[in-house]
Amino acid sequence: MNKMSEIITAVAPVNIAVIKYWGKRDENLILPLNDSVSATLDTNIMCAKTSVCASLDFTENELWLNGKKDSFTSKRIINCLNKIKEIATEQKSVPADFLTWKVRVCSENNFPTAAGLASSAAGFACLVSALAKLYKINTDISAIARMGSGSACRSVYGGFVQWHAGVETDGSDSIATQIVPSSHWPEMRVLILVVGDTKKHTSSTDGMQLSVKTSAFLKHRVEHCVPKHVASIRKAIQEKDFTTFAELTMKDSNQFHAVCLDTYPPCVYMTDVSFKIVELIHAFNKQSGEVKAAYTFDAGPNACIYLLEKDVPELLSLIKHIFPSSNPETFVKGLSITEVSNPELLCSFSSLRQKEDLIKYVIHTKVGNGPEFINESHLLNGSGEPIQIS
Ligand code: PMV
Repeated sequence: MNKMSEIITAVAPVNIAVIKYWGKRDENLILPLNDSVSATLDTNIMCAKTSVCASLDFTENELWLNGKKDSFTSKRIINCLNKIKEIATEQKSVPADFLTWKVRVCSENNFPTAAGLASSAAGFACLVSALAKLYKINTDISAIARMGSGSACRSVYGGFVQWHAGVETDGSDSIATQIVPSSHWPEMRVLILVVGDTKKHTSSTDGMQLSVKTSAFLKHRVEHCVPKHVASIRKAIQEKDFTTFAELTMKDSNQFHAVCLDTYPPCVYMTDVSFKIVELIHAFNKQSGEVKAAYTFDAGPNACIYLLEKDVPELLSLIKHIFPSSNPETFVKGLSITEVSNPELLCSFSSLRQKEDLIKYVIHTKVGNGPEFINESHLLNGSGEPIQIS
């Protein structure tokens, strides 16, 4: 081995939008039509991990994704790498010949990509964090992560985050900023209900394009609804007003899926099971006499439920009752909870009871911090070879 850089390894979080991004004004730079707001989830429970290095000896850029060799030809990856090198050139942050060295990237998610969870957001936030460190650039990296996957720009910060659509044609003001850090609302919890689903859904890229082309409701949402949703949810987050936060979250998710239905031909992401979850959450809130939980759905059938720590045991016992599992021991993953038993409550919901295994499993997590660097357990060895992932 001639010359090789150090290996940089980053972990980066998933984020789940409470005010959804749907529709681009620039496909290449990935510039959105509207602002969006999300919470970043704890990397201890769900994360992408990426190692990168560069060497004079590498003859081509190479990529390994979840244990398999992948091609380095994706326009989005190349755009991110080129942008980072462009900034490194401007900032003279590394020697000029270092910029000619080829890179190796090895990345994995600690959660199933196939589960339809926001894996590309974590993946691109991780890749861009690691490359930005490798090339020693000093800049806000959200606009670079955005060029990989729009929603990835929100994963470069922890806590609650806003992605500003911006107005510039070069995308320079389409960046993410933190609204509050995770420590601001430490009681906030998230349950991800992974719904069994084999249907191939329209990708978010294709779905958005079609919505922009065909949905008059999307235009109305972007102009008249989202600005109000964003302003109100920012205030609710700042004031820790769970009721307003939860209602806006549910309404914005419903509105986003209404835009999907208004798209021609329609994009249908939610399934019967998704709608059963919607019904359960509303019934739970009604029975509680207050809004204790909020659902939100991305471009797939999985539900993401926001709720406060004190309400997790009760809602989880209800979910287990309504959606029984044939594997109850492994049904809930992530943060541990103290189980509660309230037979009366369960009994009052029995009419909603479903058949087994409609929900595959539940991930219990919380709001967390942005990307971090680690100095051990790299995914590339000292020669830049991928380490076999178990
Ligand atoms: O960044 P993408 O292309 O994965 O799009 C994400 C779109 C939604 O998840 C549906 C909404 C959002 O704001 O994350």
